[in-house]
Amino acid sequence: MSESPNGVATPASIVDALKTVAGNPPKVRASFAKGWCVRGTYTPSDRAGDVTRSQSFTRPSRVLARFSVGGGNPDVADTNRVLRGFSFRLGDGDHRSDILTESAPVHFARTPEQMLAFLEARIPGPDGRPDEAKVAAFSAANPETLNQANYVAARPLPASFAGTTYWGVHAFPATSARGETRFVKFKVAPVGDDVTLTEQEAETKPADFLHVDLNTRIGTGDVRFNVMALLDRPGDPVMDVTIRWPDEDSREEVRLGTIVITGFEPNQACDASIFNPANLADGIGHPPDEIFAARRTAYAISLAKRR
Ligand code: HEM
Repeated sequence: MSESPNGVATPASIVDALKTVAGNPPKVRASFAKGWCVRGTYTPSDRAGDVTRSQSFTRPSRVLARFSVGGGNPDVADTNRVLRGFSFRLGDGDHRSDILTESAPVHFARTPEQMLAFLEARIPGPDGRPDEAKVAAFSAANPETLNQANYVAARPLPASFAGTTYWGVHAFPATSARGETRFVKFKVAPVGDDVTLTEQEAETKPADFLHVDLNTRIGTGDVRFNVMALLDRPGDPVMDVTIRWPDEDSREEVRLGTIVITGFEPNQACDASIFNPANLADGIGHPPDEIFAARRTAYAISLAKRR
């Protein structure tokens, strides 16, 4: 793995690098800058307590959520081959949890050092474009950093925020109502089918078509997701967010509950604060990997910068 050539990898230096790669647009998130704030409801399944005693998952609640498009550019076209994000806050009072998910099951870096170096290799030059030779050299030395882009490239473009599967990526320690702790991964799957676009269809779509689609589907009550917990097995690689668990797609999964998105909120309702991955109510713990440790402070730093 390459070390960062230019600096020490800290949450602050990573936030700076995210901003620099995106051309430093002011007052927006360092990542997933384009997005739409929405509200809805969460209804637990009767099996949620088998996985977690967290009252944010075992009790019904209102939901504040945000659908987003990856990267730090708030004007990115919705047809770009980047990630889609879905962040949501469940629970009430002292039992709130923020769950941040994206449309790939892996992250693009295993450690903060690798994440900083990945971003630094992509900082645009005077012509506004990254140095392709530098990116290729970094990728050759760090092949696992391509796992995420390869996953996205191998699938059709999402035609709807509501027809896309999202992952929480990290392994979260979950403590059940009986007090037993195991690792789970969150998978947030549309209640209906995935909705996708061909490259040709994408060419005809306006830059904000995902918002138009979301508006239509909210009107028909058609934005519903099952929140699933994928259950671990002994020996799963819980420290490496660039790889999936063996046989992950056929893991035993438990439906924790269902989210129904019922309306838009003014973007200010989401932008004034953050969905913060460190906000987890008792019953779901912090993932043990280094990337999550960096995330614990990165989000607050980004919020302070964009205020
Ligand atoms: C598993 C890996 C990750 C996932 C699934 C993820 C997902 C997300 C999502 C969905 C958002 C949008 C939040 C919103 O809608 O308000 C976001 C924002 C952000 N992410 Fe991540 N992220 C990951 C890793 C990281 C890492 C490692 C860092 C830095 C160390 C980071 C830094 C940020 C920052 C700074 C923001 C903007 C926060 C704000 O200003 O509100 N992310 N991320």
